[in-house]
Amino acid sequence: MAAPKISEAHQVKDWLNAAVSVAVLTGAGISAESGIPTFRGDGGLWNNFRAEDLATPEAFARDPKLVWEWYDWRRGLIAAAEPNAGHRALAQLERRSPRFTLITQNVDGLHDRAGSVSVLKLHGDIWTIRCTACERERHDARPRMETLPPRCFCGGLERPGVVWFGEGLPGAVWDEAVSSAREADLFFVIGTSALVHPAAGLVHLAKSEGAKVVEINVAETAVSSTVDLCWRAPAAEALPLLL
Ligand code: APR
Repeated sequence: MAAPKISEAHQVKDWLNAAVSVAVLTGAGISAESGIPTFRGDGGLWNNFRAEDLATPEAFARDPKLVWEWYDWRRGLIAAAEPNAGHRALAQLERRSPRFTLITQNVDGLHDRAGSVSVLKLHGDIWTIRCTACERERHDARPRMETLPPRCFCGGLERPGVVWFGEGLPGAVWDEAVSSAREADLFFVIGTSALVHPAAGLVHLAKSEGAKVVEINVAETAVSSTVDLCWRAPAAEALPLLL
């Protein structure tokens, strides 16, 4: 893998210094160096299932135990992981920038643990659990569940508080993400294949509203041809160079 190039860091730093409003969209790749597998590409399968086979209301209705086993496995991995230098650099950039919005598709909570104060979680939070019957939501930080699938006090089946394929994004969070993409002078798209919508649409929106768009990713993605600069580097190596 190519090491981050100094020239790219210089260019992006210039744009960062000139920007009044910065927005960032992150995906699973930013947590890859914390040891959390991404969804697509090498290592993206769990027991031969793709994310699209498990992260749906239909899969949950068919086999809630199987879907929960996947989430339980991921909760265990995430609980044992630490935020990496990429997460920490974004938390520092938030403190330094007058207008900075961090939008994430990740449900792992590693941005919060790295010190980011305001995180727009488009796809929910793996540590939130919601009852499918009474809708009661609770925070549950236990890395492994005692019984799968868990049940609410009301007897209803509980589900992870995440957004599955075919479900709507949380409205207020989405509206804020759209506003920040519209007003951004500089927009970063980091560690996402940009295949999942509507999140990926934020990149096109920011670009069409005049932002400079920088991609930080180890590989080419669905938005690479749209962005102003492709920085081919691991996020945990590239982002600290901006500080
Ligand atoms: N640094 C930067 N990018 C990386 C790194 C790294 N160290 N390692 C991997 N990547 C990139 C990959 O090249 C890929 O483009 O991260 C991206 C991960 O893509 P996906 O696995 O598709 O993850 P993501 O884009 O976040 O998925 C979107 O799909 O399954 C759903 O809801 C789930 O939020 C998720 C959504």
